[in-house]
Amino acid sequence: MWRSGLLDICATRWPKSILCLFSGCSSDSRLKVSDALSGAASQREQEVVRVQGWIRSVRAQKEITFLHINDGSSLQSLQIVARPDLDISNVTFGSAVEIWGKLIQSPHRKQSTELLANKIRLIGSCNPVDLPFKIKKRHSLEYIRQFPHLRCKTNVFSSLLRIRSGASAAIHSFFMNNGFVQIHTPIITSNDCEGAGELFQVEPASKTAEKCNQTHFFDVPSFLTVSGQLHLEIMTGAFTHVYSFGPTFRAENSQTRRHLAEFYMVEAELGFTESLKDIMEVMEHLFKSVTFHILSKYPEDIELFHKDVAPGQKERLERMLKNPFQVLSYTEAIDILRRSAEIFKFEPKWGCDLQTEHENYLVEHCGKIPVFVINYPYDIKPFYARDNQDKPQHTVAAVDLLVPGIGELCGGSLREERLNLLQTRLKQHGLPDTYRWYEEIRQFGSVPHGGFGLGFERYLQCILGIENIKDVIPFPRFSHSCLL
Ligand code: 4AD
Ligand code: MG
Repeated sequence: MWRSGLLDICATRWPKSILCLFSGCSSDSRLKVSDALSGAASQREQEVVRVQGWIRSVRAQKEITFLHINDGSSLQSLQIVARPDLDISNVTFGSAVEIWGKLIQSPHRKQSTELLANKIRLIGSCNPVDLPFKIKKRHSLEYIRQFPHLRCKTNVFSSLLRIRSGASAAIHSFFMNNGFVQIHTPIITSNDCEGAGELFQVEPASKTAEKCNQTHFFDVPSFLTVSGQLHLEIMTGAFTHVYSFGPTFRAENSQTRRHLAEFYMVEAELGFTESLKDIMEVMEHLFKSVTFHILSKYPEDIELFHKDVAPGQKERLERMLKNPFQVLSYTEAIDILRRSAEIFKFEPKWGCDLQTEHENYLVEHCGKIPVFVINYPYDIKPFYARDNQDKPQHTVAAVDLLVPGIGELCGGSLREERLNLLQTRLKQHGLPDTYRWYEEIRQFGSVPHGGFGLGFERYLQCILGIENIKDVIPFPRFSHSCLL
């Protein structure tokens, strides 16, 4: 049965006949496994219900065969009791089935409910010998990564995807509940927001553009977006607080455990702010509130990671959640790094970007609590970062949030709203004409503003303790690999 959140909102204003279309008034007997396992199912004890899903185990005993069926609604599977009169000869590990029966109280401690089957229909057969995953075997994330078209069938990856989906919904709720307006920023854009040149260019695969005698399909070079920030900045000029959450692309040739060519970025932009503190407050609240939400909504899925995949992660996460995030200036951070006895591959030097090894050291130094590093050198941050106009060390009001096990999770800044300073900066970057519109938004009721971007995959890695970023996204894209 479909449930619509819309009902609560419009119940008082719309006639019942229309609402019925939304509420799924059919008498469908289909039950999700999660509902069958929850207390709610006890109300349906005398009814014949129908479940659909995939077989996770088959255990034949003398008289009875026990099957476990999973439909992706929960980590737990529903136990099916199949009496000998039912033909289940082709029902194997991995096959898709539909089962009718009555829910009964289970005599076993492990589950409260089981389904006494009176009909089983094989929908899709499966030869378990050819399936790369073996019954009852716990395969490593690295192993299942080789099968991007099948790995959703494993417990560990289906847990990951449920958590990912719940975290995504919690992020939207966080912003909606805090008065932010969601903006769908474009995927195809003509700007390089970060100015790092890590762009994928977009051109038609066919010769359409050539036929029309154009140089480019859009007349100008166009790219897959590296960040929706500049478009969000436009929108702060009318909505004050805005956010976006969508795919982002970087043609970085790095094969690290925390880089992808396509990843999801959460971006927020706040108008009428003159302080990095406001931005850091949103980052910390977002992190903590989304994490609390999924800890309470998906306890079993989370436990699978915290117990089996990354032992000790529960305690590490608790530490992050119960302590206030720390703050260091970039200059302090460099001092700490230079004074440390650690031998770094890259020497920490004022004016150079922090490397992952430096970020990890700083987080350890701060007691394994996330740390904001603020006020970076003017010369290493993009053109939009607000000039602090300080001396002798010239900095901008930029902030990175570093977290245990990952390093940089968020990057943000106050934006340069002073037209003359922005124009100087654009000239220095050799971009005097490219961003006329960006300059113009500083002329029509411009306000001080700032924001940040959070890498969604890195967030999932951080809370679950997952080593490789390729294991937290359904279909990873990275250099030399675009499977499926
Ligand atoms: O620090 P970045 O590059 O910041 C921006 O793009 C800003 N324009 C965002 C803003 O202020 N609205 O990227 C933001 C975050 C990083 O901190 C990191 O977590 C993630 O995006 N990120 C990546 N995640 C996976 N793979 C990559 N190649 C990533 N590059 C950045
Ligand atoms: Mg960054």
